[in-house]
Amino acid sequence: MTLSLDLTNMMAGALPDGAGISATEWAAAQLRFAQAHAAVHRRTDDLGFLTLPENRALHAATQQVVADVRGRFDDVLLLGIGGSALGPIALRTSLGAAAAAHAAVPRLQVLDNVDPASMAAMLARLELTRTLVLVVSKSGGTVETMAQYLIVRDALAAAVGEAEARRHLIFITDPEVGALRRIARAEGIVTLDVPANVGGRFSVLSPVGLLPAALIGIDTDALLAGAAHVMQASTSVTLMQNVAGAFATAQWLADTSHDRRIQVLMPYADPLRDVALWFVQLWAESLGKRRPDGRSVGPTPVPALGATDQHAQVQLFMEGPLDKTVTFVTVGGRDGAGRIPSRHADIPELGYLGGHTLGELIDIEQRATAGALAARGRFNATLHLDTLDAWHVGALLQTLALATAYAGVLYEVDAFNQPGVELGKQFAYALLGRTGSEAARTEWDALPKPDPRWQI
Ligand code: PA5
Repeated sequence: MTLSLDLTNMMAGALPDGAGISATEWAAAQLRFAQAHAAVHRRTDDLGFLTLPENRALHAATQQVVADVRGRFDDVLLLGIGGSALGPIALRTSLGAAAAAHAAVPRLQVLDNVDPASMAAMLARLELTRTLVLVVSKSGGTVETMAQYLIVRDALAAAVGEAEARRHLIFITDPEVGALRRIARAEGIVTLDVPANVGGRFSVLSPVGLLPAALIGIDTDALLAGAAHVMQASTSVTLMQNVAGAFATAQWLADTSHDRRIQVLMPYADPLRDVALWFVQLWAESLGKRRPDGRSVGPTPVPALGATDQHAQVQLFMEGPLDKTVTFVTVGGRDGAGRIPSRHADIPELGYLGGHTLGELIDIEQRATAGALAARGRFNATLHLDTLDAWHVGALLQTLALATAYAGVLYEVDAFNQPGVELGKQFAYALLGRTGSEAARTEWDALPKPDPRWQI
């Protein structure tokens, strides 16, 4: 069971015309990484995601809730946004289908937006008498999630009555503070904790991801074991022994010393497509920041999917500006899967396929794309999972979360806040008339108005 990283195609020697990270740069970066490593690993008390894989109490509490509700529900509806939804979605997509094939489990539905059409369609589709609703918000007061909750709570009450509705609700939120916690205390609603020191986008291995995953039959023990393995391996300060460290350092060098500011994550496996979306939020919201010296920094993450995007974005990756890295995520053990029949053997466009498998085809296409990109001086790397199961997905998620923490130190930003989203939030509160947003209202009113000269 391994998760490995191949950085060959990021390095000088593998790329033409002197492109690539040189041995001297890498050696210098080793020193920077040693500082980043120390800065992250000494913070186990306040960076709660580092210890989530070993948090037995939280996992046990989650499993208890799963046992308590077993058999009562056909659907689980998760309400949340950002880190409170992307992790559960990534787990559902990567492991949900395989889990459902082995056990009769509820379906997981996620509402992560406030589009009224999506809400109406969801409520029309669900049998609320057989639906469990998870309200997920670390802060316990996020506007979108609270609006969803108010609507769904009313609908639940109408379907099953006020008292019974409480038995259809589980809150996942901060242990102490926030509106959800207050409501839960007042009304006796079952609640699981997101530890105070775990932020939204780093919370996938807390009950935020573990509860929905366990409810749909995903092996959360294996998920946590894979993540725990990453934490053990990451005690090494030597770059080429620490996958998360090597990934973060290579991407940071590619951005800051080689102008590869756009960083693509491209799994060659349909179940991992939403891991790429989860990573985009993690990388963007954590690293896109203004540093204390006033400089704006941060790579721009882009999701892609192989082989599908070979017919969409790869043209840009091959011949567009030299401003990208592509990290492939590949999966082993599928060589024999999806045998292609030997029909039309006499037609050249089809004949050569007979006897191969789809597993071979997708892997060969990935290797071909990586080689083609390298041949044109395009930085690329490959993260490889031995197989696609809960252990490896847990390892992948923890690797990328840890890499983000290291990258925060390398970029000299606080990877764990998101001050840039505040102003827009305050303006929205002001426009909705929330008490306390008067200053934002004044600032909003002072903004230039839409100019008819530029409107058609
Ligand atoms: O990563 C983050 O912290 C954010 O994306 C949050 O997850 C998002 O804003 C939702 O916040 P909350 O979980 O408090 O509702």
